[in-house]
Amino acid sequence: MLLASLRRIAVPLAVTRSIHRPLATAYVRNMSAPAIPKTHKVVQFEKTGGPEVNVLAEVPTPTPKPDEVLIKVEWTGANFIDNYRRSGLYTVPLPYVQGQDIVGKIVQLPTEKVDTPLGPLKIGQRVFSTAGHSFAEYAVAPAWQVAPVPDSVKAEDGVSLSTVTLTALTLLREAYPVQKGDYVLVRAAAGGVGLVLVQLAKAFGAHVVGTVSTAEKAQQAREAGADLVLLSTAPSEENVAKIVEWSEGKGVHGVYDGIGKDTWEEDFLVVRPKATIVTYGNASGPVPPFSPLKLTPKVLKVTRPSLFPFINTPEDFARYAREAVTLAEQGKVKFAVHKVYPFSAEGVKQSQIDISSRGTTGKLLIHVS
Ligand SMILES: NC(=O)c1ccc[n+]([C@@H]2O[C@H](COP(=O)([O-])OP(=O)(O)OC[C@H]3O[C@@H](n4cnc5c(N)ncnc54)[C@H](OP(=O)(O)O)[C@@H]3O)[C@@H](O)[C@H]2O)c1
Repeated sequence: MLLASLRRIAVPLAVTRSIHRPLATAYVRNMSAPAIPKTHKVVQFEKTGGPEVNVLAEVPTPTPKPDEVLIKVEWTGANFIDNYRRSGLYTVPLPYVQGQDIVGKIVQLPTEKVDTPLGPLKIGQRVFSTAGHSFAEYAVAPAWQVAPVPDSVKAEDGVSLSTVTLTALTLLREAYPVQKGDYVLVRAAAGGVGLVLVQLAKAFGAHVVGTVSTAEKAQQAREAGADLVLLSTAPSEENVAKIVEWSEGKGVHGVYDGIGKDTWEEDFLVVRPKATIVTYGNASGPVPPFSPLKLTPKVLKVTRPSLFPFINTPEDFARYAREAVTLAEQGKVKFAVHKVYPFSAEGVKQSQIDISSRGTTGKLLIHVS
């Protein structure tokens, strides 16, 4: 049961105040910095291919730039993008250390004065960051790109506050800015991003229909707040008719689709005139090239967002990180964990097999230390 497995995040007032603090300067040297080893363990791939190309390696511990912090990683998680990079769909320099979400404690502060919009940083502080390369014992992040994990939040939940919550928020705020009373469709509604999208779209006042592949996932999407959940295994014409009928007989205002190729054509059938299709992932493969004329009959908008351009300034990162923490504090988003994997080549490999198997719901965590 999703509700049983979701953990409410309550943030004490003192912590809330610190994360809401306006632009503050720099960092605090309040504890002596721990010793940092010259080398550390990472899971990386040296060539693209299947999950088996993940290998454990001992490499030099990264040296932070003057405006960066060094973080001793405690938790990270699997994201679908790991598969795109490892398979070669997205090109990255080799060898490559994956891992989008850093959760851990700061062990080295910046050597230059930097503005940290979410408050001063200190040694020993637990933070989350989207700076990446977190399948590692140590990771670096620009000081502006780390956000405190409040004391009352379980460390591992910092992983869910990172990529999946920030992605869901930027999709709902900017890709298609959902309005109160809107009808929206969330694809893969029981997935990592999907479960958070459903909860937040409901919190922002939308009517939400989700599609999922199994009855168990349908139950989870319903418990997350979806008003209507349809099985993607049903005939497409049936699902299209149900979605259009449910949305005042007109179709939905917005589609949030991380599946890509397999659901692309159906997306055009379930939207109303002037709607927006947000195609934000390729779980089934990338969408095919198309002519802008495809948009004409319903004067549609199609957007293909990525999280990082939305949060690549200190102000934007701070704004979204602050909102993510506040929503968690208010209980408007709760996190489901599919499984915890060990920090090893085998653990990373299995997480990537599982996330692409369609058998997972919620977040896949990796426990580093
Ligand atoms: N644009 C961005 O910045 C951004 C950021 C984060 C994530 N994403 C994208 O968001 C999507 C969801 O990511 P996630 O990490 O949260 O993964 P996820 O949703 O937990 O897992 C992917 C889900 O996609 C569905 N799916 C449908 N067809 C599939 C297929 N052929 N193979 C595998 N899965 C299929 C499955 O749900 P059903 O079984 O219910 O269909 C599966 O559980 C991914 O496409 C990811 O790349 C994009």
